[in-house]
Order: sequence, then structure tokens, then C-alpha cells
Amino acid sequence: MAYDRAAATDFFHGQPYAMWDEERQHAPVMNMDGMSLGQGDGGSYHVLGWSEAEHVLRDAETFSSSINMAHIGEFMGELIVGLDGDEHRKYRNLVAKAFRQSQLERWDDTLVRPIIAKLIDEVAPHGRGDLVRDITSKYPVQVICGIVGVPLEDAEQFADWAVKINTGTLDRETGFAAKKAMTDYLRPLVEERREHPTGDFLSDLVHAEVDGHGLEEERLWGFLRLLLPAGAETTYRVMGNALFALLTHPDVMVRVQADFSLLPAVVEETLRWESSVTMVSRVAMHDTEIAGCPVKAGSPVNVICSAANHDPARFDHADQFDIDRPPALHVAFGTGPHQCLGMHLARLELRAGLEEILSRLPNLRFDPDAGDPAPLIEGFAFRGPNRLPVIWDR
Ligand code: HEM
Repeated sequence: MAYDRAAATDFFHGQPYAMWDEERQHAPVMNMDGMSLGQGDGGSYHVLGWSEAEHVLRDAETFSSSINMAHIGEFMGELIVGLDGDEHRKYRNLVAKAFRQSQLERWDDTLVRPIIAKLIDEVAPHGRGDLVRDITSKYPVQVICGIVGVPLEDAEQFADWAVKINTGTLDRETGFAAKKAMTDYLRPLVEERREHPTGDFLSDLVHAEVDGHGLEEERLWGFLRLLLPAGAETTYRVMGNALFALLTHPDVMVRVQADFSLLPAVVEETLRWESSVTMVSRVAMHDTEIAGCPVKAGSPVNVICSAANHDPARFDHADQFDIDRPPALHVAFGTGPHQCLGMHLARLELRAGLEEILSRLPNLRFDPDAGDPAPLIEGFAFRGPNRLPVIWDR
């Protein structure tokens, strides 16, 4: 065994790719309880192969998302990621209205560009900083706050609630307190839009209707509580991963600095190579099999999207960051009926953020005097760098 399982699966500091590679070489689907590698007998399962992951995510009748309600649902409430079938379609159609293309274009001009520009204004004169502390940890959360109508000065408080709700299963009391605090805070904003819709995202959400039916109260709250963790935690870490990739591949950094049309390739390759969300959960609704591995009804099935994105059967030299690889779909945003609703916004933020950073902080490189620990992408279920100490030419 080329890896230490406890170290690989450490929630905050894990390095799981070597483990997933080795497991995938044995079987694309792994029974985690019996460790019997393909001999399913009632345990939980890890799906590691590309085509197997795609199969599970697309077959939502066999592999239900209801398991998500039992876990984070406790902290977030009625969740879109925890529903199946018609219930899910109805809910998704309602909230999708608030993510319409014209809103996205409006956010680009009114939120995304001004927010990243202001964050960079604050650090640019110093010639030295930590890109995680100073920029990435603030940027997507401020964008989501702006979208929901929360004043930017409260963004840090929101980031804190988002983290606590997201990790509520690890610290229940703190998770529940954050859930209540966020709801109390948002209630007046929701009531205001109910009375006086302004055409913004929150008004769209509160007033959305499909076939004469709107969002039920609990689902509106479930969606709002999910939005901040889903939109902020995820994108900020991927942005750190993209910057880490460029800083550790100076040849690519030079090319991108000279030609921003390469940025979409940088964003897609980062999502494939090191996404922030490594896995999504399903539960088998009846006895079935995946790639010949028997799976019993009621078994949890974890689709390891990040392992699927490193499957050598789909991607050559899969562990390397290579912006020139031929385009091929990845599953960093999932696929099938639950595919990420915020993926266009995430891509927009990532491209705009990287463009602003690279153009305003010239000759960006790691700070040789920053000391230990060396910057590193880490984590088991959520991955990103904790620090990116850098210097640039003023
Ligand atoms: C790079 C950043 C992001 C990553 C890696 C990511 C990843 C994912 C993944 C893997 C799923 C599928 C979950 C499943 O199948 O169970 C998902 C769903 C979702 N994401 Fe994202 N996401 C990102 C950004 C965002 C943003 C910016 C928003 C909103 C502003 C958002 C909102 C959602 C929502 C609402 C769903 C649930 C869709 C449904 O269940 O129908 N995400 N995301």
C-alpha cells in the first residue's frame, strides 16, 4: 500500500489522490466496509472510475440524493441537493429562474468585476501578500452576498456562518447556532422583497412561479442557507487551486499572462485536476450493480468526482496539470439532474478573478521569505490551499 489511509482521509489535511488511484486500479467501484474490492455485501461504496461515476450520477432513479437530506439537511433545511424526481425538477425549475442569463450578465458588471477590483486595490501597492487571506477567501463570498442583497460589510460574518453550517456534522451545536443566526439575519431581507420586489435575485426567488406554484417557505430557506456555502466555499477554494497551479507551473503562468484567451482552459483544467468538492453522495434504492459490483438496496454510494476526473481511462497523464489537453467533459460540477446550478457563475468568477490578479499583480511568484509550511492544496472532502504567500512587482 503506497499510502497511509488515516493521513489520506484527514478531513482538513488529507492527500487522497494516491489512495484513490490505487483503489481504482483494483476496481472502479469499491466496497468500503468489507474492503472486498468489488465484492459488494451491504457496505458503503466508493465510485472511482469515470464511466461508473457518470452512470451513477445520471441514473437518479436507482441512486437517490435523499441521503443528503439526512446529513447536511439537518443544518441547511429542505434542500435541493436532497430531493429526487418530480419534486426535485419542480424545485430546480423555480430556483433556476433566479439564475437566468440576464442576471449573470448584470452580476458580471455590477458585482464580480467591481468586487475583485476593490480587493486587488487594497493589496496591489504592498508588493507582497497572501492570495488566500487577502483575495480568494473574500471574493466569492462577497459576490454571493451582493447577489442575495447582504451588505458587503457583513460578508465576513456570512463566510463564518457558511463554514459552520457546512461542517455542522462535525460540530452540531455550532452548526445549529450558525443556521439560526443566518436565518434571523436574512428574514427582514426576504420580507422586504415579498412586499416590494426589485427585480434582483432574491425578489426572483421569493416570487418565482412554475404552473402557478411558488417556492414553499421551508424550501426558500433551504435554498438560501445552501447558496452561501455552495457558492462561496466551493469557488474560493478552486480559485486558490488555480493560482497554486499557475504558481507551481511558471511556464504556464508566462503563457497565460501573455494571452488571457487561455484562461478558460486554465479554469477547466483546474476543475478537472483539483476541484474543491471531491465527492457527492447517493443511496441505492434497490439491489443493483455498478460495473459488475453488486450493490445492496439502502447502501450509501459516494461518487468520488475528483477520482473520476483522474481516471487514466478517460484522461491521459491524468495527474498532471495540462491546459493543452484535448477538451473532454469533467464531473467537477457533477452531471445528471443535480448538475451544479451555479457553474456558469463560478466560471465567470474564476475567469474574471484570475484575469484581474494576473494583470494587476505583475510577475506574481511565491514569496521565498514566507517561511513554513509550504503552500499546499489539502483536504479530503473539500480541497484548497490554506495560504498562498506571494510577491509581485510594484
Ligand atoms: C467551482 C465552484 C463549484 C463547484 C466545484 C461546485 C460543485 C457542485 C457539485 C459537484 C454539485 C452536484 C451535487 C450533487 O450531485 O449531489 C453542485 C450542485 C449545486 N451547486 Fe455547485 N459548485 C460550485 C459553485 C457553485 C455556485 C457559485 C453556486 C451558486 C451560486 C452553486 C450552487 C449549486 C446548487 C444550488 C447545486 C444543487 C443543484 C441541484 O441539486 O439540482 N455552486 N455543485
